Parts: sequence; C-alpha cells; structure tokens
Amino acid sequence: MQPLAAARRARVAGRPQDAVAPLRDAYARRPNDPKVLEEIGLTSVDLGDLGNALGALVRALDLDPELGDARRTLCWMLESNQLTEESPQVVRVVQALLDRDDVAPQPLVRSALNLALRRPAVQQAVASRDADPSVDAWELLPEAMLTDGLLRRVLERDLNRDPDLERLLVRLRRDFLLRAPDLTPARLSFAASLAQQAHNNEFVFVETAEEQAAVRRLVPDDARNLLRLAMYRPLTELADAEDLLRRDWPKPVAALIEGVLRPHLEELDLKRELQSFSPIEDGVSALVSDHYEHNPYPRWFSLTVPQREHRLRALEGLLGQRLATGGGKLQVLVAGGGTGKQSILAAIAYGDSAEVLAIDLSRTSLAYSMRKAREYNVRNLKHLHGDLLEVGRLPQAFDIVECTGVLVCVRDPQAALAALVAKLKPGGLIYLALYSEAARADVVAARQMIAELGIGDSPDEMRRFRHTMITGPDSPLRTELLGSPGFYSLSTCRDFLFHRVEHRFSLAQVDGLLRSCGLRFFCWDLPAGVLPRFRNRFGAAADPRDLALWEVYERENPRTFRGMYNFWCRQEG
Ligand SMILES: C[S@@+](CC[C@H](N)C(=O)[O-])C[C@H]1O[C@@H](n2cnc3c(N)ncnc32)[C@H](O)[C@@H]1O
Repeated sequence: MQPLAAARRARVAGRPQDAVAPLRDAYARRPNDPKVLEEIGLTSVDLGDLGNALGALVRALDLDPELGDARRTLCWMLESNQLTEESPQVVRVVQALLDRDDVAPQPLVRSALNLALRRPAVQQAVASRDADPSVDAWELLPEAMLTDGLLRRVLERDLNRDPDLERLLVRLRRDFLLRAPDLTPARLSFAASLAQQAHNNEFVFVETAEEQAAVRRLVPDDARNLLRLAMYRPLTELADAEDLLRRDWPKPVAALIEGVLRPHLEELDLKRELQSFSPIEDGVSALVSDHYEHNPYPRWFSLTVPQREHRLRALEGLLGQRLATGGGKLQVLVAGGGTGKQSILAAIAYGDSAEVLAIDLSRTSLAYSMRKAREYNVRNLKHLHGDLLEVGRLPQAFDIVECTGVLVCVRDPQAALAALVAKLKPGGLIYLALYSEAARADVVAARQMIAELGIGDSPDEMRRFRHTMITGPDSPLRTELLGSPGFYSLSTCRDFLFHRVEHRFSLAQVDGLLRSCGLRFFCWDLPAGVLPRFRNRFGAAADPRDLALWEVYERENPRTFRGMYNFWCRQEG
C-alpha cells in the first residue's frame, strides 16, 4: 500500500500513532504534495500536536485551497487557537479563507485581526485613535493601512472584535461625516469598507448628538454623502432606496449599495411567501417576537459547510442504529431557528434523507433564513412562522427536534419543552442549548450594573453602555465583556446583555427540567478538550452522562459552559 493511503487508513481507524511512520516516508518522497501535508495536519490534530497541525494545514491550503478536510479542520482549530506568526503564506491562506462563502469568517477574524494589527501601518493608525481632535484622523492614516487586505476583509465580511480598532473606526467615521477629507481612490474604498462594517454590526458604534444632527440633514446626492449616510443608518430605510440601485456610483460604492439592498429586497419578497401555523398570543412570546423582529439573531454572513449527512452518521454511530430507515424521510424540527445558520447547517448535516422544518416567531429572522437557504442551495428546509408553544398544531411528528438558545427566552421553559416532547416520535431525540448560571456570572454582573446605572435597551443606550466599557478603566468585567463576540454587533449585544427574558440553569435544574418532561440526558456536545479533562479529573471509567459529576466539574471550572449547555436528550423508556 502507498504510504499516504496507509497513513490515512490508520488515522481513520483511530490509530494515528500508526500513521506517523508512513507519513514520514510520504513526506520524504513528496514534501510539497498538498495531500501529504493535509494528512500530516489531520494526524497531528489526532495526536494532539496542534502546533505542527497548524503549520501543515496552512502549507497544504496554500498549495491547494480546495482541500475540504484541511479547510474544515483549520477553521475548527482557529476557533480556539489563533495564528499569530505572520508570514506571507499565513496571510495568503487566511485571506483566501475569508473570501470563501463556504467558510464561516468568525473563527478566522481573530487571527486575521491579530495579523493585521501587527503591521506597522495598522499599528500606527490604531495608535492615532486618540490624536488631537483638531486633526482630521484621515490625514494620519498611512496608505498601507487603507489598502491592508486582511483588515479590509474583516471589515467587509464580518465584525471587528478589537476595541482599540473600534475606537479608531468610530473616530474615522466621525471625521468623515463632520469634515471633508480628500476622497482619494484608496480613501473612498476604505470608507466603503467602513460603511459595510457599520451595516454588518447594525450601527453599534457610539454616536454623539452632533453626529446625529448632521446625519439627519444628510441627502445621499453624491458618493461622499451616500457613504456618510451608509456609515450611520441602514440604506434600506430610505424611502427611495431602490433608486440608489439605478444610479451611477464609483465601483466600491455601487458594490456596497448592491450588498446592502439586494438581500433586503429579496427578504421582503420572501416574507410575503412565509406562512404561519399559529398566531403569537402568549404575552412573553409577543415581547420576544418584537425583540427578534427588530434584531434578527444571529446575523451571519457565511458558514463552514459541513459534509453532507455528517450529523446523521454521527448520531447513528452514537445510537448504534440507523435513523433514516424505510421509505419515509427523517423529520427534523428546528424550533426557534432564527436567521437560519442552525437550520441550514442541520439541513446539510442530516442530508437529503431528512426534511427539516424551521419555525420561529420572528418573520424577519425567517426571511433571512429563507434567503440564505437559497444562497446555499438547500432544498430540504422549510420555514413556518409561529409560536413553539403551539407546535401541537403541526400535522407531523418529529424524529429529531433541535432547540438552541430558545427555551432560555420563553415564559415557561418546562411548558415549552413539554410542547416539543409531545411532537416527538417514540424514541425521538432532542438537542438543547441552555444558558449556564455559573458560566454567565459576568453577564449577570453586567446586567446588574446596567440596571443600577438606569440604562435602558434602546439602541442609543446600548451604544453608550458599550462606549463606557470600551473607554472605561480596566476591570475583570470589562475584560470579559470586551473579549466576548456578543459585544460587537447590536443584535448580539442585545441578546448578550439586554434581553428582556432570560432563564439560566444549574445542572441540577437541567436534570429536573428533563425529568419533568419524561426525557433523559443522552450525551454532551462539548467544546474541544473538555471531555479529556473531565476524564483526567474523575478517571477514565467516569460516566460522562453523570450530571452530578459535571456539577462538581463545573464548580471547579465555572467557564466550561460559556458557550451554553449543549446536549442531546431522549424520551424515557
Ligand atoms: C437566540 S435566538 C437562537 C436562534 C438559533 N436557534 C440559534 O441557536 O442560532 C432565539 C430564537 O428563538 C426564537 N423564539 C423565541 N421564543 C420563541 C417561541 N416561543 N416560538 C418560536 N420561536 C421562538 C426567536 O425569535 C429567535 O429567533
């Protein structure tokens, strides 16, 4: 057998150590073969040698960007391991990944920012954020910063998550509005990226009264004024928005207008097609519906496309039985599917043998989801508007229900879960994500501070609270908040710190909730590295389904479930 094939076979069979010798052999023969480098990267991950894995995967993708396993694995690794070593190769690979529609930008952004913020031109620009206010900040920007590919991609494709860079962007936006910097081609192009960033973060940047007054007077009669407006307000709200599409603009401005308006117009059409299965009558559901109609969550731009049927096969492996059997399709319900990231991933990851139905009480979120489903050519996903408390009105029963981040914002989580369980086929599975009380201690502290300061939840108040935190003195709470991805757009910030309805749980309460609905805990979906640490603590024979052990673990490691308790449960019996 060829050494590469032998190495792959050993790794796939769960014996990565047996892959090492054949890989050495393959590498000695073909050191620049991207497939060999990919296999070295994948094997190194399995062996826990993440440094070697990162290097090998970056090299592999630089040679062949289409290597799917290398791409998915590198993105997964970058969620927790950032690339800090700048080399032209690393920059090329990160830029190329950021350009793709089948790769979620979020895990890449921290690495991209790390790399960009090390560049002298970008450092110099960021350092000028507090320069003399009488100076136009645009005059201090080095040309190399305006054209920095990594920085520009982050601004255009996702969200900045660096508070110092945000302060510079806030200042640049203000000076662009209130002064009239010369519009060189590079500045115009950068201003369009800044406007795109403001659109992406739903205008989360702080605004002064002077800026607000100036924005009210703006008429988008030329490129400069159009950009000024787009940096502060959604172009979609202009009475004559569609006219903008018909006018002549410089290329970066035209691209911005297209990127903002076309999706919006498509969503308006899709909203008209959307059907309802129930009215929203419950008072809390109506409040929550209002929240998500105005702030669809999460607004996402692209996602890392999983392998088809990946989740179906993984579940079948855990259950030791086939799920999609007989002629019928597997029925999957995504309850509270929101803007569709979860539902689209589910539709792909369960595959064509599944029919996925996403329900939600926000029409705006569902329209976003419908548009994205088209974009990703996902055909086995349907959408219905309605309250999950009324799910009994649907004609079908489900093999699988996914409900993440939803039971945390209903009036009565137990009643809501019971309604979902009643629609489950015998032996069906439910995937839940619930907030952990322990992991959200900092959020509780922030919410208390917000209440004590009498800060409400209007966009302007949220912006001012953020500004206070960004410019305020260092504290553990500030570090926590500024380090949280939820801090960096208006809808995520609302969800993170300003939600009107929020239930948090201890593991004992999770246990009680499941029992009260006739469910039993089936298995965790844990962040990488947690299970080995659990086993180190309690021994290899410890049962990972034992929630009492996890209570001890969480007391000792309260941040473990920062990304929520994510787990599968099943009907008893
Ligand atoms: C935090 S978002 C989570 C979205 C998605 N599940 C995810 O994990 O990315 C909560 C979603 O649940 C929806 N939701 C909340 N209460 C609901 C209810 N009673 N019925 C249907 N959807 C609900 C909201 O409209 C919102 O889209």
